[in-house]
Amino acid sequence: MIDIQNLDKSLSGQKILSGITLNIADGEKVLFLGHNGAGKTTLIRCLLGEYRPDCGKVSVNGHPLASERVEALRKIAFVPQLPPPIRFTLNELFEYASKIGLCSIDKIKETSLYFGLDANAHKHKAFYKLSGGMKQKILISVAFSRDVDVYIFDEPTANLDAIGRDRFRELIGAPEMSNKTVIFISHRLEELANVVTRVIELDLGRVVRDERTLTVSA
Ligand SMILES: Nc1ncnc2c1ncn2[C@@H]1O[C@H](COP(=O)(O)OP(=O)(O)OP(=O)(O)O)[C@@H](O)[C@H]1O
Ligand SMILES: [Mg+2]
Repeated sequence: MIDIQNLDKSLSGQKILSGITLNIADGEKVLFLGHNGAGKTTLIRCLLGEYRPDCGKVSVNGHPLASERVEALRKIAFVPQLPPPIRFTLNELFEYASKIGLCSIDKIKETSLYFGLDANAHKHKAFYKLSGGMKQKILISVAFSRDVDVYIFDEPTANLDAIGRDRFRELIGAPEMSNKTVIFISHRLEELANVVTRVIELDLGRVVRDERTLTVSA
């Protein structure tokens, strides 16, 4: 499904990722661990085609990212660590997301409500004016409303309140997610311990641990 071969990436002249080779199969629930600055977000950016690797290859569903970017990314939903400063109102954002992500606006609103956020009450507000947790709830709701094969969540619960974190765990653990591939980057191991099937740890841009497990330990 996701194949990363010998990937190196430098930023501002500094080597950030070195020799990353990983194969992530359909249905795996992978937790990426690692200290702040280990290279987790940079790796995800390479996987999403936001960064071009110095060397190495990434392919998704057999589509090389370098030459078939659109096909490779079509079935991936991504929630970033830092929400972008989107100037659209929520109504405009939902319109846009429903067209680009091929999902229903009602489903996005329903999912937001499930997270404890009444999107209708904020529909004329610009996305960037929402609180950090509200932004995260909206982006997670858009992701869960899409029909994709792969979900990537970079620190998804960092700003969520208790209801939001509970709901996130419930949605991730739902039966319809069992055949989906999910990549989490999180420092909160305990929250995902029952869901993840594989733990990959990065340190100084290298993979230092790769375990298939149903029980996660720090
Ligand atoms: N645009 C950039 N230019 C230069 N260096 C960068 C850039 N983006 C990230 N880095 C550096 O790359 C290294 C890895 O950063 P990255 O964001 O991938 O870490 P991370 O593992 O996601 O950390 P965290 O747990 O804090 O989110 C850090 O040293 C960071 O300063
Ligand atoms: Mg990060």
